[in-house]
Amino acid sequence: MADIIQHLRETTAFIQQQYPHTPEAGIVLGSGLGNFASEIKVEKEIPYGDIPHFPVSTVEGHSGRLIFGELGGRRIVAMAGRFHFYEGYSAEQVTYPIRVMKMLGIQNLLLSNAAGGVNPHFKVGDLMLITDHISFSIVNPLLGKNQSELGPRFPDMSEPYSKSLQLKVKDIAAKLGITLRQGVYYGVTGPTFETRAEYKMIHALGGDAVGMSTVQEVIVAAHMSLPVTAISIITDLGIREEENVITHEEVLEAAAAAEPKLSAIFKELLAAL
Ligand code: HPA
Repeated sequence: MADIIQHLRETTAFIQQQYPHTPEAGIVLGSGLGNFASEIKVEKEIPYGDIPHFPVSTVEGHSGRLIFGELGGRRIVAMAGRFHFYEGYSAEQVTYPIRVMKMLGIQNLLLSNAAGGVNPHFKVGDLMLITDHISFSIVNPLLGKNQSELGPRFPDMSEPYSKSLQLKVKDIAAKLGITLRQGVYYGVTGPTFETRAEYKMIHALGGDAVGMSTVQEVIVAAHMSLPVTAISIITDLGIREEENVITHEEVLEAAAAAEPKLSAIFKELLAAL
């Protein structure tokens, strides 16, 4: 932990040598959302494996690189593939790229993910704007000695998802005619999907969707006062009467099918920043 500031400086210096511009926004592409990258007017791509101190992505459906370029008229940096706690990375490693993007100069962070719906009104393929999250089932990435250069010991979490970005996203979805659900994202570590009893518990505790990413990233962004907006693609439904076997393939397929809606919203949002 003592080395994180030094590591961040080294990583940032390496990237800035490769790409000497300041990205205005950072984007994280979730499972099955790799196609979104094709929307970007790419200026530079750097495989994670080439970046000092970066972990390397392993999960299927992730191509593992930082993409620098233009989208919606803005300079952006996008993570094609993210790091998950269930892959065996520490919470610090999972969130390291978020800290790097902040150090590269981003002013807003746009996150996407695949999530299981537990709100009975949700359908597969719906988009859900995350309004809040529940982090009690995950490891907090800020455990350990606080680096006050990065943020405060006890960060406020009353608005982890920027209200003004939420308003913009809602306006854009309405303008584009895209139905947008809203709700609370319940973070879990995975890699198991939930049992029937767990999906019910998550709903009873106030969750609308459940997923294995995002929450640690959002905590680290809040620590650094970096405004975040996040959208889940509902890829499966946790609470159903009938047989309910969930596969990773099904999650990837549903995410890919809903991706154009998410891309359209993110592109307009970037233009409106
Ligand atoms: N549970 C947890 N994570 C997920 C799910 C789910 O049902 N679907 C996609 N990611």
